[in-house]
Amino acid sequence: MRLAGKHILSMSESDITYFTHKGILFTPVGTSVEILNYVENEFQLFDDDIVTVTYPKSGTNWMLEILGLIQHGGDPSWVRSTPVWDRCPWIEVHECHQKALKYLPPRLLTSHLPFQLFPKSFIHSKAKIIYVLRNPKDVLVSSYHFSKFFKVFEDPGATEEFLEKFLRGNVAYGSWFDHVRGWMELKDRPNFFLFTYEDLQKNLPGNVEKLSQILGKNLNSQQINAVVENASFHKMKDNNMSNFTQTPLFDQSTGKFMRKGISGDWKNHLTVAQNEYFDRVYQEKMQDIKTIPLWE
Ligand code: A3P
Repeated sequence: MRLAGKHILSMSESDITYFTHKGILFTPVGTSVEILNYVENEFQLFDDDIVTVTYPKSGTNWMLEILGLIQHGGDPSWVRSTPVWDRCPWIEVHECHQKALKYLPPRLLTSHLPFQLFPKSFIHSKAKIIYVLRNPKDVLVSSYHFSKFFKVFEDPGATEEFLEKFLRGNVAYGSWFDHVRGWMELKDRPNFFLFTYEDLQKNLPGNVEKLSQILGKNLNSQQINAVVENASFHKMKDNNMSNFTQTPLFDQSTGKFMRKGISGDWKNHLTVAQNEYFDRVYQEKMQDIKTIPLWE
């Protein structure tokens, strides 16, 4: 995949310095102020678009695998033959949205954008948003590992340093707290659907059924089982079209995209003091938001 801006093949992680657009940090690989302005002001969403929106590391690609399988009645041929960024292009990434512009509806699209930078055309459209939330402590841990081997992100530095950056929103795509708060404003819209990573793990069949209805597909129980099986962590880990092992964007020697796929891994990483600090910041920033799950 060739991306706008820097040439990924000749890059090392130390070459990356984020730029700021409207107060949010972005990587210069694949996006730019021009692209972000274009996406916000000119990119047209269609009524039958399905857009998976997440803060990075919240289970985006898992949701994309599930949606791709649902669209094909549980048949894994498509998700095993087409890279995920072609199946469900990220609209804020240059080459991806160029592809999205050529797709015929219904399109499966993806975005990590905070609501204030999302296409304005959404406001008057019936496009459906599938928003996936994950325990921010697990997002933090997943992001830390991911930033070490995703060449497009700045080096995370030491764990303590990364914790501070994450809590202050000085990471790619900005603050987790602001992202969630911004998107939660839409919670009462009929075309906004909230899912959590933790609930997908607890009850995948129930969530697949709900998602099938959102996509207007009436899957029978055999097809639902096929989606559940083919979207499992182990099946996805072996799927080269979803596991990011085939792209130069990742330094495979320093980590794996399909890392652990569990809830609560933060307990293996945060010290008692770091956890208490995280809880204090969380309380301060989210105390008035009643609609999001209480994580352990
Ligand atoms: P970990 O790093 O905690 O393992 P995103 O797609 O938003 O970048 O999120 C990546 C996270 O989702 C990673 O978490 C990855 O392992 C996890 N993930 C991907 N596919 C999964 C699946 N089928 N089941 C459970 N977790 C999955």
